[in-house]
Amino acid sequence: MEPRDLSAHTVYQAGRGIEEVARDLGLDPDDLVKLASNENPFGPSPAAVEAIRESAASASSYPKASHADLTEKLADRWSVAPEQVWLGNGGDGVLDYLARATLEPGDTVLVPEPGFAYYGMSARFHHGEVEEYHLSKADDFALTAETVLADYDDERIVYLTSPHNPTGKRFDLDAVEAIADRTGDDTLVVVDEAYAEFADGPSAVELVESRDDVAVLRTFSKVYGLAGVRLGYGIVPEEWADAYARVNTPFAASEIACRAGLAALDDDDHAEKTVETAAWAREYVYEHLNAPTWESHGNFVLAEVGDASEAADELQRRGVIVRDCTSFGLPKCVRITCGTEAETERAVAELNEVLSS
Ligand SMILES: Cc1ncc(COP(=O)(O)O)c(C=O)c1O
Repeated sequence: MEPRDLSAHTVYQAGRGIEEVARDLGLDPDDLVKLASNENPFGPSPAAVEAIRESAASASSYPKASHADLTEKLADRWSVAPEQVWLGNGGDGVLDYLARATLEPGDTVLVPEPGFAYYGMSARFHHGEVEEYHLSKADDFALTAETVLADYDDERIVYLTSPHNPTGKRFDLDAVEAIADRTGDDTLVVVDEAYAEFADGPSAVELVESRDDVAVLRTFSKVYGLAGVRLGYGIVPEEWADAYARVNTPFAASEIACRAGLAALDDDDHAEKTVETAAWAREYVYEHLNAPTWESHGNFVLAEVGDASEAADELQRRGVIVRDCTSFGLPKCVRITCGTEAETERAVAELNEVLSS
């Protein structure tokens, strides 16, 4: 007895953790800086930490009230009906719900290449097939309607990442609308806005108000610093509202996650500090790193450093962990998460030394 044929399924390659690297290199974890997974350098909002502490006592209950409260708060914030807010176990969980609600076995989805690996993984879990649209370095990884439509062939889901991981580029809202207009009636355009708080400009939620073929993904992992509790949400068209009850994994957004999310949403100071520091860090990297970079709208910067694996390994030996983008198909690039000022300055100084040696 064996699992089904999983040979087409890829393995998600997460950025390495501080403990893991410290153990491997015999270093003190406190001496390491991790700028590999686009996490929040300030940690969670203190209000969320307090809420997590307080919710420990209610961890024996299924999250019913907290789930409803958070859904309503988000619906209010985005001016949509509560049924249009799909909470999930991280943005990844929401991607699963969208695939589950959309795909029949053998349906095809269109994903960016390079891009976030989980779109294709989630589609395959749901017996879908995966095609790619190609972002070209020669074109500075530009995200236009043409970039996507050139490779579009009636796929059931088209994934757009804005701001994009790992390039930091973004789509204009007009481009998203053009893609939705020019794809078929049976194509859902999923706009992944995991990093949108770090960018200026309108959310594609605007389009959800008037269309039945655009859904938007958001997460608490980045600007709210709650990657460890796993909480994300989708904003779906009114017509899709009923599907949630049929596809969601019951209580996947936990009591602790929902309570933390509710508190984080009210902590504007933490979110503002995070966004401002990321904006400062992006500029610092463009200006001081002795390597070509791409303008980013996220909390990270892509840089071309030659042999990325070699550079990332050497940097790691010096105590700074960044993301080698070889697994994204960019073997000459690393992605550097925006850290605190001190972390960012250290990362740039160390990487400059690696590059000059
Ligand atoms: C583009 C993009 N989308 C979605 C996610 C999912 O985030 P989470 O599952 O932590 O909410 C990530 C995580 O890094 C991401 O980079």
